[in-house]
Amino acid sequence: CGIVGYVGPQQAHDVVIAGLRRLEYRGYDSAGIAVIDGGAIASDKRAGKLANLVTALEESPLPAATTGIGHTRWATHGAPTDTNAHPHLGEKRRAAVVHNGIIENFVTLREELELAGHELLSETDTEVAAHLLEVALTECDDLTRAMQATCRRLEGAFTLVAIDAQDPSRVVAARRNSPLVVGLGEGENFLGSDVAAFIEHTREALELGQDQVVTITAEGVEVTDFEGHAAEGTRYHVDWDLSAAEKDGYDWFMRKEIFEQPRAVADALLGRHDGDGLLQLDEVRISEDELREVDKIVIIGCGTANYAGLVAKYAIEHWTRIPCEVELAHEFRYRDPILTRNTLVVAISQSGETADTLMAIRYARQQKARVLAVCNTNGSTIPRESDAVIYTHAGPEIGVASTKGFLTQLIACYLLGLYLAQVRGTKFGDEIAAVVDELAKMPDHVQCLLDSAEQVYELARTYAGTRSVLFLGRHAGFPVALEGALKLKELAYIHAEGFAAGELKHGPIALIEEGLPVFCVMPPRGRDQLHDKMVSAIQEIRARGARTLVLVEEGDEEVTRYADELIRLPVVPTLLQPVVATVPLQLFACELATAMGHDVDQPRNLAKSVTVE
Ligand code: G6P
Repeated sequence: CGIVGYVGPQQAHDVVIAGLRRLEYRGYDSAGIAVIDGGAIASDKRAGKLANLVTALEESPLPAATTGIGHTRWATHGAPTDTNAHPHLGEKRRAAVVHNGIIENFVTLREELELAGHELLSETDTEVAAHLLEVALTECDDLTRAMQATCRRLEGAFTLVAIDAQDPSRVVAARRNSPLVVGLGEGENFLGSDVAAFIEHTREALELGQDQVVTITAEGVEVTDFEGHAAEGTRYHVDWDLSAAEKDGYDWFMRKEIFEQPRAVADALLGRHDGDGLLQLDEVRISEDELREVDKIVIIGCGTANYAGLVAKYAIEHWTRIPCEVELAHEFRYRDPILTRNTLVVAISQSGETADTLMAIRYARQQKARVLAVCNTNGSTIPRESDAVIYTHAGPEIGVASTKGFLTQLIACYLLGLYLAQVRGTKFGDEIAAVVDELAKMPDHVQCLLDSAEQVYELARTYAGTRSVLFLGRHAGFPVALEGALKLKELAYIHAEGFAAGELKHGPIALIEEGLPVFCVMPPRGRDQLHDKMVSAIQEIRARGARTLVLVEEGDEEVTRYADELIRLPVVPTLLQPVVATVPLQLFACELATAMGHDVDQPRNLAKSVTVE
């Protein structure tokens, strides 16, 4: 969910709605706002996208006010209806609360409130928090203390932001395992789920720790723990600006982000090597000696990040000879995995806030494993709680389906593999330098693919209305097939599946029927037999009526006669091919979803960063 809070001289309505607009990618099944109006809370909330709320507010505007909170929701408890939308108010309408996360003991708390005569209007866990907060507020008459007392009673993960009708001077928020940052203005202050909420007003921010309560007034910010002891946040400067969070003339953020990939990949590579060719990690609390002792790597992530991990496995094992497992973070966490001090857990997360991944790294650290985060969001929770971080430097990714996040995750993983190979001496310096040289060419290769986007767009438009698409790959091309299929599911809502091409004959070939589009990622022509085996697989499906859409490197003509469509890729080493092969599949999914009239940036039922388990 997206959360905004404001106190200062501006109209709270304007600041809050603008902030919600930038946060809408975090959840968009309902939205709401509350402001303080002369001792009372004025509030409106609507199911559906933010636009519904905005229209409602145009018809019946809120009163002028300078303190307010807002929310854009991704439903957990209770369907996305007007009633379940946030803010939720206490019984006497004195406190208003917005919330992200899940309050796990809400059933018990709800019963307790109902026994005490409270009438709860919604099905949400949030309303319980609003009622509890208001009870505490009535007792102590101080929103900050009331928030501390309320948080002490809550279990689970939450960000709460609240206002008190009788105290327009402040907005109070709290966080436990859920994102919240403070924007530091002059004579005004902000709260947001991430910095996009206030980036147009200030680039000075304050990062909060777990289990902290923050009170913002126009003049200042005060941080405490849940017991009320003074605590401190960490100040930082946000290094991207407003234009990075705007569409710049593109129809979708996603398309803009696809086209930003040459820059993003270049930035991910920038300044990573010192004079001796050693990789620079952004923050390392793991010594080289400890890295030499690593005897197993486990890569965890969810969605696209998991596929980046699958690619990483091929490269890292090949370069370092360290056994490497890849697992979905939520599966890893709950299966009693074998971890020791010598296990390196690599957590990949664009947002750094995915709850499944966060819980998994906490578990890994409890088991004494070292954790290295590959992350795109400075100051987010996962890197903060890891032993080392490689930031991907892709800039803000707003489109829900990850694109430049994925490509830069690949780059970061390659760099990690090379670094480990160097530290452990499994590769010679010149071998490493040769891969680094190939990586340095990636921005240009990606640019070339983007320059011929129109060919992929035309192809995509001819498939509007298709019901099923398959993707085949082998080796590092297998995760590319999975990622291509995920993009289509997310954006076009059509059945799409990725398979390892070798597995075809063991089942999936039964799916092949006349005219079924099948993307085939051809491995580069190399020393092994992968290439030829893939040519055979393509022949087999074509013989059964499939329409073959083949991604193949320049100059490889062997497959030409079995391809209904050819998409040319630059010539790159096998392990690095995912960086280029993914790009046409992103373009295809984006254009097909556009042609089908879908909202590419905000696909149904999804959210950019899923901060609940
Ligand atoms: C959500 C998004 C996916 C994303 C996944 C992991 O499910 O819809 O696109 O890949 O989260 O996100 P992360 O921020 O951890 O990389």
